[in-house]
Amino acid sequence: MARDYRVIIIPGDGIGPEVTDATLAVLAAVQDHENISLHFEPHSAGAAHYRATGRAMDDTTLAACRTADGVLKGPVGDPDVRSPDGIEAGTLGGVLRPGLDAYANIRPIRLYPGVTSALRDAAETGIDYVIVRENTEGLYASRGKGTVTAHGVTDYMTMSRAGIDRVVRKAFALATARNGAPDGGGRRVTCVDKANVLRGFALFREIFDTVAREHPTIAADHLYADAAAAALIERPGTFDVLVMENFVGDILSDLGAATVGGLGMCPSGNIGDACAYFEPIHGSAPSLAGTDRANPLATILSGALLLDWLGEAAAAARVRTGVERALASRTITLRPDGTAAQGTRAAAQAVIAGL
Ligand code: NAD
Ligand code: IPM
Ligand code: MN
Repeated sequence: MARDYRVIIIPGDGIGPEVTDATLAVLAAVQDHENISLHFEPHSAGAAHYRATGRAMDDTTLAACRTADGVLKGPVGDPDVRSPDGIEAGTLGGVLRPGLDAYANIRPIRLYPGVTSALRDAAETGIDYVIVRENTEGLYASRGKGTVTAHGVTDYMTMSRAGIDRVVRKAFALATARNGAPDGGGRRVTCVDKANVLRGFALFREIFDTVAREHPTIAADHLYADAAAAALIERPGTFDVLVMENFVGDILSDLGAATVGGLGMCPSGNIGDACAYFEPIHGSAPSLAGTDRANPLATILSGALLLDWLGEAAAAARVRTGVERALASRTITLRPDGTAAQGTRAAAQAVIAGL
């Protein structure tokens, strides 16, 4: 008997349907190798859905995400679809992350052999670290709540003790399961903050230090976020796991992506204790929509993270092997702008050939 899983699919906007289709093709092929049966349940949500219905996501979709075994989400958003307060109305981070209490955003930044890094010496030392981005608090918890006066707007950064504690513990658990930084080895968690400026970040660092003392076999250090941005360019190979506030994690993960072949190379998992959903870190890239040029690997690798979440480690490893083989053999190559030279659909077929 095959192991059955119900997976909600949100194709998304812009390049979303293309990179999602590519991933579903890979996942369908993986089933033939492993004893699993994935039942895909598509749901509409995002900017086009907002335009059509006045809501970015229906309550029934959120409920389905809560009860399903897993969720795969394409990028959503259209810069032209905005709510009266001026922010984008079609994005889902503010709905799904709190809605599923998916408090840890796991963002692996890995340079695959065969991919050219924007950093000259990166291939020598390797790049293989994970950003753990706090996903339900921080500055983005102010979404829709900023105080508006005649003078301007004040947004607030929320830092709760429980919220910091659980995401820092997730980072140490991840470091325990990994093999350390490629350059210099050693398991390490780096706390990235601005504890020199804001008291919320000082609390983040204080709780980080408390949790770090409970993990004597894992090294712990700190970097201010501005210095961290420079260090991720200057010595990316020395990093293992980094944990940080929501907004800082959003920025630094896109920076990291730029060092490993672009946004199209970076998957993510939004993980809670009960629910999780998986998506590329990039957006809907409107200018690439419908051109078969988007790199689908970020979404395909998000599919691997989904398989890990389902407990299907062998299937997840098979997907990663397919990606590694396609890149190492140059069956998939990337243009300097990060698009897929052979096309989105051909890239999926190349991964399938290497499964
Ligand atoms: P973006 O990530 O869509 O694009 C930034 C740059 O990266 C563009 O040059 C784009 O062409 C390129 N790019 C992105 N994905 C790529 C891929 N798979 N292959 C090759 N190149 C790729 O960011 P943006 O332009 O700032 O935002 C566009 C829309 O996406 C906005 O509506 C934004 O709110 C939304 N967004 C959504 C998510 C999400 O759903 N998780 C994440 C980020 C942005
Ligand atoms: C991301 C995105 C989202 C976020 C936006 C689109 C709401 O940038 O997932 O990285 O940061 O919340
Ligand atoms: Mn982002």
